[in-house]
Amino acid sequence: MNKKKVWLSTILVVAVVISIIIGHSNSLKAASSLGKDTLTMITSPDYPPYEFYDTKGGDREIVGFDIDIAKTLAEKLGFKLQIMESDFNGLIPALQANRADFVMAGMTPTPERQKNIDFSIIYYEAKDTIVAPKGSNLKQPQDLSGKKVGVQLGTIQEQNAQKIAKKVAGIQLKQLNKVPEVVQEIKSGRIDAAIVEDTVAKGFAQANPDLEFNVIPSEEASGSAIAFPKGSSFVEPFNKVLQQIKDDGTLNKLVAKWFSQNTANPASSTPAKGGLNLDFTRILPDIPFILRGIPLTLLFTLLSVTLGLIWGTILSLLKILGIKPLTWVANAYTSVFRGTPLLLQLALVYYATPQLTGYDISALQAGVLTFTLNSGAYMSETIRGGIQAVDKGQSEAAMSMGVPYWLMMWDVILPQALKNILPALVNETIGLLKDSALVSTIGVVEILRSAQIVGANKYIYFEPLLFAGLIYYVLVMGMTLSASALERRLRQSE
Ligand code: ARG
Repeated sequence: MNKKKVWLSTILVVAVVISIIIGHSNSLKAASSLGKDTLTMITSPDYPPYEFYDTKGGDREIVGFDIDIAKTLAEKLGFKLQIMESDFNGLIPALQANRADFVMAGMTPTPERQKNIDFSIIYYEAKDTIVAPKGSNLKQPQDLSGKKVGVQLGTIQEQNAQKIAKKVAGIQLKQLNKVPEVVQEIKSGRIDAAIVEDTVAKGFAQANPDLEFNVIPSEEASGSAIAFPKGSSFVEPFNKVLQQIKDDGTLNKLVAKWFSQNTANPASSTPAKGGLNLDFTRILPDIPFILRGIPLTLLFTLLSVTLGLIWGTILSLLKILGIKPLTWVANAYTSVFRGTPLLLQLALVYYATPQLTGYDISALQAGVLTFTLNSGAYMSETIRGGIQAVDKGQSEAAMSMGVPYWLMMWDVILPQALKNILPALVNETIGLLKDSALVSTIGVVEILRSAQIVGANKYIYFEPLLFAGLIYYVLVMGMTLSASALERRLRQSE
């Protein structure tokens, strides 16, 4: 392949991929940018039977009590419904950033929350329980003395646990992002107990015969309500139809559908008991679900690498041009992006962009942007090295023939530099592919997140994670092999 063709095809790939991402991200955008006929709800689907992923058959569908209510309300109000997700502690920030029209996540109105967001009337009441290994007999707050206690981060269970810890000696709290993670920690013996709402605890205890739960006495009930951005005009109409479905029995029917017996619970098989007895048959039906994370992971990697390469090239040119302020800016940029954690950059871009610019950046876009900015910083150094390694004689020859600087760079130096740094670029790509798992933290359902969802639904962790690991490994191997083939061809064409 000649250089022009390589560049042309790169540009083509970028164009295609950009159009895919723009198309794709539409489905991730919040209501603010959608037509008025669609309402966007955001939830934390780690909470069966309120909201969880139905992973049967590979569909990525969030289902549950809250979802049914939301659908009923949206329909009655004449809107279509779109559902987004995030960890529970990201829900209120999402409302504040106007990323969604409302939250349904079994969320309890508390005075602190009411300072920042508005709530509807209450649609369901629940109580806290202590979940613990069978036979622990932990019935009331005092029993937790000296114990390690798990809670979901940002919930009122966390607050309640903190209150208890002030009164009862020796309680050590452990906050985790998702309820299934909390349950898993009990099962693996890292914590002694957890505080979980009753209906949710019931589901987990049914699926895990080695667990028990006890309702905390004298706990006043905590209701669930719909949350809206402060001042939202939707509160009134929602309250009206909510009252309506309370009165006409629709709500009660949904309560019966989701909260009676264990039909509400997606996990029915008996969980593995201690020891390393792996049982991959349990995730067989969910494998298509996990596999569907692959295209997104690949798209993400391809985009970040291509854009990162372009941005890195620009940065490296700024560094070697010899214009002091430009060099300084490029160096400062590199040092900031290499000097701070990628995960932090990701969270900043995702959460701060809407606030700073008013643009409702989708999780996927935020991921690509962050990875481009970050990998551009690393690549700029690699490319700078590659350019400086090209024989000085070449640029001198080109200059003496009167070839303009930019043309010489583009036509003579850069192609050679790129060829030299190909192994480094492959390394970078492999790194990006694996780091793409980080975007699972802002709600992109790529490979890792899919595996975690399956694990949460089936209450097993090992099998889906091992399977995800296998997928990553196969992808990386495929990439390595095709890169060495490419390198061989380039060398032959020399
Ligand atoms: N009701 C509790 C709260 O408002 C916990 C809700 C957790 N919800 C969830 N989808 N994980 O803090």
